[in-house]
Amino acid sequence: MIEFTLPKWYDLHTHFRQGDVVAPYIQAHLDMGCVGALAMPNTKPPTAVVFEADEGGEYWSVERYMRDLRDAGGDQFSELIVPLYLTKDTTPEMIRKGAESGTLKACKSYPPHGTTGAEFGIPVTEFIDNGVFAAMEEAGIVLCIHGEEHGLPPEQYFDRAGNAEELFYTERMPRVREKFPNLKIVCEHVTTKVAVDFVHSSGANIVATITPQHLLYTIGNLIQGLKYHLFCLPVLKHCADRDALRAAVAGTDNTKFFAGTDSAPHATKATACGCAAGCFTGGIAPQLYAQAFEMAGVDLSDVQGQDMFKNFLCLNGAAFYGLPVPQETFTLVKEDAPVEMLKTSQGDVTPLPLGLGQQNLPWSIWR
Ligand code: NCD
Ligand code: ZN
Repeated sequence: MIEFTLPKWYDLHTHFRQGDVVAPYIQAHLDMGCVGALAMPNTKPPTAVVFEADEGGEYWSVERYMRDLRDAGGDQFSELIVPLYLTKDTTPEMIRKGAESGTLKACKSYPPHGTTGAEFGIPVTEFIDNGVFAAMEEAGIVLCIHGEEHGLPPEQYFDRAGNAEELFYTERMPRVREKFPNLKIVCEHVTTKVAVDFVHSSGANIVATITPQHLLYTIGNLIQGLKYHLFCLPVLKHCADRDALRAAVAGTDNTKFFAGTDSAPHATKATACGCAAGCFTGGIAPQLYAQAFEMAGVDLSDVQGQDMFKNFLCLNGAAFYGLPVPQETFTLVKEDAPVEMLKTSQGDVTPLPLGLGQQNLPWSIWR
C-alpha cells in the first residue's frame, strides 16, 4: 500500500459561502489537512470594501467576512485570506489603506457576469488606467484573476477555434503584464494550454492555480450523460489542454502551478432552467489531486513523484503568498474510501465524485 506524509496545506482558492452553511464547509477543509485557505469574496453582497466602517448597503467588508469565517470555525486555520472583490467602486486609496493595515493581501477580478456571483465585476483592463493595479503593484497586493473574456457570443465563448479563456490570455493579459511587470498575479483555475503557456512565458510574479476537476476530466466527461455536477467555470476543456495542465504539474521543476481547488458548493445545483457553476470538492481534494497525478503518469510510490505532488499541493502556493510551511502533517494512503454527502442546513451537498456516480475514491486521508 502506498502511503506518504505531507505538510498540511493551504487551499488558495475556495468558496465558503455565508450563513450557517459556512461551518460544515470549513470543517470539510479542516478534515482534508488544510491549515489555511483563501476564501473567495463572491458573497451576497460582494466583499468589496476592506473595512467594516466603510460598508454601505451595497458591499460587505473583508474585515467582516473574515470575522464571520473565523466565528464559524475558521479560527482553527493558521492563515485566512479574503481577497477584495474589485468593482467599479474600488479605488487606489482603498488598496493603499488596506495594505497598510495588513488586512488586505489580495484582490479578485471577475469577468462581468462571467460566473457565479460575478455581477459586480468590471473589465480587467479598466484597472490598468484607474490606478488600482498601480497601487496593488506598489503595495505588493496579489491579483487573483478569473481569466475569461466576458460578454462573448456563444460561438466565441466556446468553439473549436477558441474560447473565452484563450481570448483572455492572448488579448487582455499581455497588456496587464506589460504595464505592470512587477504585479503579482495568480491566473486562477487555468484550463487551457494557452493559459499554461502564458504562465510559463512570464516571470516568477505570474503563477497559476489548477483545480482537481481540470486535471482529471475533459469536456467529454461532462457531456457524456450530461453530468452536471462537473459543470464549473471555466468549463472543462479538451484533451490537449488537460495534457498541458498535467505536464505543468508533473515536472520536477514546477514552481509556478499550485493547488486552488475552487471548491464551490451549491445546495441547489440544477434547476428546471439551468445549472449553477461550481464543483464541490471540500474534504476530498488531496485525494482527487493524487488520483490526477497518477493519471498524469506520476508514480506516487516514488520519492520523486511525492516531491512533485508536495510542490504542487504544499510548497509553491505557500511560497508565492509568503505563508509558512506548517510543521503539522497529514498522511495520504492509497486505500479505497467511500465519499459521503455533506449535510447542511440548506440540504445535502453532493461532492463531485458522487455526482459522477463514483461511491469510492482510490485515495484516502489517514486520521
Ligand atoms: C464559483 C462559485 O460557485 O462561486 N463557481 C465555479 O464554477 N467555479 C465561482 C467561480 O469561482 O467562478
Ligand atoms: Zn472560484
